[in-house]
Amino acid sequence: MRIWNLILTGAVGLISVAAGAPGTSPASVKRGVIYDGKEYPEPKHFAESEHNSHYDGRYFRKALREKDQLPILVALVQTYLATCREIGVQTWLMHGTLLGWYWGQKVMPWDLDANVAVSEADIYFMAAYYNMTVYYYQYEGMPEGRNYLLEVNPHHTHRESDDGLNSVDARWIDMESGLYIDISAVRYAINHREGEGILYDKSGHQFRDTYLYPLRDTKFEGVAAKIPFMYEAMLVSQYGSDVLTNTEWKGYTFSTDKMRWVKPDEEDDDYREFDRVDRVVQTW
Ligand SMILES: *[C@@H]1O[C@H](CO)[C@@H](O)[C@H](O)[C@H]1NC(C)=O
Repeated sequence: MRIWNLILTGAVGLISVAAGAPGTSPASVKRGVIYDGKEYPEPKHFAESEHNSHYDGRYFRKALREKDQLPILVALVQTYLATCREIGVQTWLMHGTLLGWYWGQKVMPWDLDANVAVSEADIYFMAAYYNMTVYYYQYEGMPEGRNYLLEVNPHHTHRESDDGLNSVDARWIDMESGLYIDISAVRYAINHREGEGILYDKSGHQFRDTYLYPLRDTKFEGVAAKIPFMYEAMLVSQYGSDVLTNTEWKGYTFSTDKMRWVKPDEEDDDYREFDRVDRVVQTW
């Protein structure tokens, strides 16, 4: 499991990651499960492949080369965003995916996962009406179509962030390859030392709701998407002030001509523009 530490400063109205889990009280800690020598309140729901944690164990066939994961990841994000729109769930981009949006509205070429979030009300809605729904998507470049599974973690009802084995509240899974994207719910902290309006997820991120709402409408990988209202402040607090200006990263340079990250030795033919899912055929 990846944990991003948001370095949030009080000065801009954001707050730092608290040592204690918001909303945790001794009364809510019941007899837990032991995992890797640590005690947790709930058993782990999602089972990643033992071969590679970027894959769901049930659908893993083989570990793909990293560059072959990228088109699958892009299609995951596109179909997930399209599905949320279809079922009326407000979802927004977070973390590395929000950064990818900032730089050219795309998944960054070195990304191996994507991060999206929903509200607590929406995770209940998804759990009640859409858990284990399989969505079939077909589009240019993928004429044979592909099935995607929306699975909601039953431990989304455990609000406290001591639930480290279930920090991911739902997953959108490519049933063909087993690759998936993580969906986190953000919840309002109760009795937070900073007062009201503090949202948190179960991986240790916290921020004021004024940084999130009202969500802004935009596009990501050619599909309608939403982002936090104060996206720049969020990115800077999470990744540092040069994240919005530094055009060299992981051996890539950001080209303002091409509006994407390029490798110095990259030929134009090496680059494949991903198919857009503006027109999606879906049946379920
Ligand atoms: C969703 O369905 C799966 C499979 O039946 C189940 O394990 C899980 O608990 C369900 N999640 C919710 C939120 O009910």
